[in-house]
Amino acid sequence: MSNQTQYPHPIAVIGAGPAGLYAAKLLATRCARVALINRDIKPGGLAEYGIFHNKHKMKSNLRKQFNIIMNISNIHYYGNVIVGEKGDIQLNELKELGFKAIMVTIGAQGTKWLGLPGEELKGVYHAKDIVYHYNKLPPFAEHDYPIGDRVIIVGMGNVMMDIANYCIRDLKVKEVTTIGRRGPAEVKFTKKEMTNLIKNLDLEHLDAEIARTTPVMEKCGQDPEAAKNFILSAMDKALEPVSNTRFRIDFLASPKAIIGDKNGNVTGLEVDETTLELRESGGTKAVRLGTTHTIPCDTVIFCIGDRVDEDFGLPLDQWKEFAKHPKPKHPIDEISYEAYNPETEKAVEGIFLAGWAREASSGLVGTAKKDGESGAKALFEYLEGIQPAEAPEKVIETLENKLKKLKKVVVSKDDLLKLVAAEERIADKQGLEAFKFSSNEEMLKEMGQ
Ligand SMILES: Cc1cc2nc3c(=O)[nH]c(=O)nc-3n(C[C@H](O)[C@H](O)[C@H](O)COP(=O)(O)OP(=O)(O)OC[C@H]3O[C@@H](n4cnc5c(N)ncnc54)[C@H](O)[C@@H]3O)c2cc1C
Ligand SMILES: NC(=O)c1ccc[n+]([C@@H]2O[C@H](COP(=O)([O-])OP(=O)(O)OC[C@H]3O[C@@H](n4cnc5c(N)ncnc54)[C@H](OP(=O)(O)O)[C@@H]3O)[C@@H](O)[C@H]2O)c1
Repeated sequence: MSNQTQYPHPIAVIGAGPAGLYAAKLLATRCARVALINRDIKPGGLAEYGIFHNKHKMKSNLRKQFNIIMNISNIHYYGNVIVGEKGDIQLNELKELGFKAIMVTIGAQGTKWLGLPGEELKGVYHAKDIVYHYNKLPPFAEHDYPIGDRVIIVGMGNVMMDIANYCIRDLKVKEVTTIGRRGPAEVKFTKKEMTNLIKNLDLEHLDAEIARTTPVMEKCGQDPEAAKNFILSAMDKALEPVSNTRFRIDFLASPKAIIGDKNGNVTGLEVDETTLELRESGGTKAVRLGTTHTIPCDTVIFCIGDRVDEDFGLPLDQWKEFAKHPKPKHPIDEISYEAYNPETEKAVEGIFLAGWAREASSGLVGTAKKDGESGAKALFEYLEGIQPAEAPEKVIETLENKLKKLKKVVVSKDDLLKLVAAEERIADKQGLEAFKFSSNEEMLKEMGQ
């Protein structure tokens, strides 16, 4: 059998971020009929709504690649449709409609609250709120997320860098302090992202922090000089500053409580001072010392990764990730893409996971692409063992009939063409690199809905 006729199956792919799009592409090119169902009106996921708003070239290149996928004729797109227990359609309903397998690529939409006192105060955010806001994802684009002049960011990854970039170069706040529970040798951000901000970095403070944390690093076999050089290596290609924001990094500090005033506004962040201990299994762990101090601030933004949507309807494992089969039947590169129920100790039949839905907050667009493709390969292997559908197009038709009954607009590929044309027209007229509508209502209106 040629690849073109090998898989005449109806497959649902849930989530049109990079993982879902590349999984759909591989599935469709092997002749599966793919129903690509997406919460957002537009495809792209975090490539559209996560990547920093001024990376126009990167976003435009990705959109071009995604458009090619969206043009594949046996990929059917349903935007503005939420799948899940509290959504427009549930996983089980999709199975009942006749989908032979379902690829879940919904990313990590849950928030990783730490359960700290004060998390409910005004001025406490998670990165997602801010990132979705400045990237104009409804409804976040329509809400205000007031940010004060003294911002603390928790976490030392690239999401922290994006949020710091927004606060320093866009909002031009007075102070940004980022805190990390580990030391200078274990920052997760890249040199490239530091080039945007290093000219705002308080270098005296960095020196003092390196000196303070040197004994802890040396105890763990880490090289303080190399850690400092890595951070300073961003100076080579540093962007000129556009604000006087003082940017500081505080190491060996873990959030303990957010302090507020009687009006519910943030006034400070109490942190646990930490040290590093070597793990038997390798690497280090940050251990609280039992001593604390409080850093004054008016805004706290957590950039500590996300977790999956617990209401989606798939079983979770002990780490609150969607559970994966520990002994997968179709591993790819020794990775399990198969959903699993730890209570029954059985596979969730026909459900596959890829991208950030499989491993939350892990890696770049390229990683999600590869993961989507590997998930699709695992799914192909699964399909080889089951009876092909007699009329895959009938399943698609039944899905469309069901979606028509929803009390909301389901967005098609044709609708998207109208939307993109309207946004490009406005961008041209206003001389902008890109223009996005901020609400679903405006987008739907442009589509004539
Ligand atoms: C702030 C930030 C900045 C980043 N910057 C970069 C960068 O500069 N370069 C880079 O290479 N990588 C970057 N990344 C990483 C990159 O965006 C991710 O690796 C990638 O987008 C993950 O792809 P995914 O398809 O698994 O999930 P996502 O991109 O999150 O896509 C998930 C899709 O599922 C849909 N969905 C969610 N829930 C449902 C549901 N219940 N029903 C139906 N659909 C649903 C969503 O609408 C979305 O379209 C960044 C990430 C973040 C958070
Ligand atoms: N420009 C870009 O290319 C870009 C931009 C944004 C994101 N991304 C990618 O997207 C992925 C996710 O990025 P990310 O920044 O969210 O994740 P990340 O790189 O894993 O960084 C998360 C940070 O949060 C800290 N953290 C996690 N849990 C914590 C807790 N309970 N208490 C205190 N600190 C905690 C981590 O500390 P520990 O190390 O101690 O766990 C780490 O410093 C990464 O692969 C990243 O490269 C890329």
